Amino acid sequence: MDQRAIGVFDSGLGGLTTVRELRRLLPEEHIIYFGDTGRVPYGSRGREIIRKYAVQDIRFLRRFDVKIIIAACGTVSSVITPEIVESAGVPFSGVVLPAAQAACAASTNGRIGVIGTAATLRSGAYGRAIRGIRPDAHTFGNACPLFVPLVENGFIQPDNEITIKVAQTYLQPMIENEVDTLILGCTHYPLIRPVIDRLLRSRVTLIDSGAQVARWAQTLLTREDMLGAGNGGAEYYVSDSPEMFIETAGIFLGEDVHGNVTQIDLDTL
Ligand code: DGL
Repeated sequence: MDQRAIGVFDSGLGGLTTVRELRRLLPEEHIIYFGDTGRVPYGSRGREIIRKYAVQDIRFLRRFDVKIIIAACGTVSSVITPEIVESAGVPFSGVVLPAAQAACAASTNGRIGVIGTAATLRSGAYGRAIRGIRPDAHTFGNACPLFVPLVENGFIQPDNEITIKVAQTYLQPMIENEVDTLILGCTHYPLIRPVIDRLLRSRVTLIDSGAQVARWAQTLLTREDMLGAGNGGAEYYVSDSPEMFIETAGIFLGEDVHGNVTQIDLDTL
């Protein structure tokens, strides 16, 4: 048994979709979440800046006695280096490998689509991970930069005409390339899963990258005898207004925020 917390970070609020899944799979674990709300979005930035932020985010979580660290952010996970992983000092995972493994296992025709932020797609990380697992697979990527602002502004209803229109444009290449599996490679996309699923006529297996990394945590903690037995509390740290975080967090978490939300000064990271 290991009563230390699980550390999770993201560029902002989206990583709460992973927290939601962690709470479902591991309800007794304590979670410490850092959302870099003062610097979100990461997805439109260049690789080196994202790496610099990731190093700081991990360093912040290391102030706590966490037993594992999860980069719930698709963008961070795509550009992370072995040195940054090493700097975590505890078992670490981003979303790319767990999602790639799930997609490779799910795909029948070996044609796998990936959607995510511009930085995620530019990195080519998913293509590399998928080919490493399944060399015969073909990957088809498309950046979907408008999905993040749509979700954050509440355009998540399954019949939202604007979201449907935007999604049609983004998903057309997936239909043309006959993918049978699609990785939702960004924290925000599970919120519009019904829209995506309907446009793909429920014929494509959707892989939620945040949910897959939560499964990685469950498997690791079980195997290594590191499960906790607490009451499933959570602490949230943000780099911008806690009030703004609390207002929007419920969309991602699926419930109101329970637990303290503390603002940290970016200059101290
Ligand atoms: N969390 C980011 C991701 O999953 C989306 C928001 C951003 O661009 O920072 O890629």
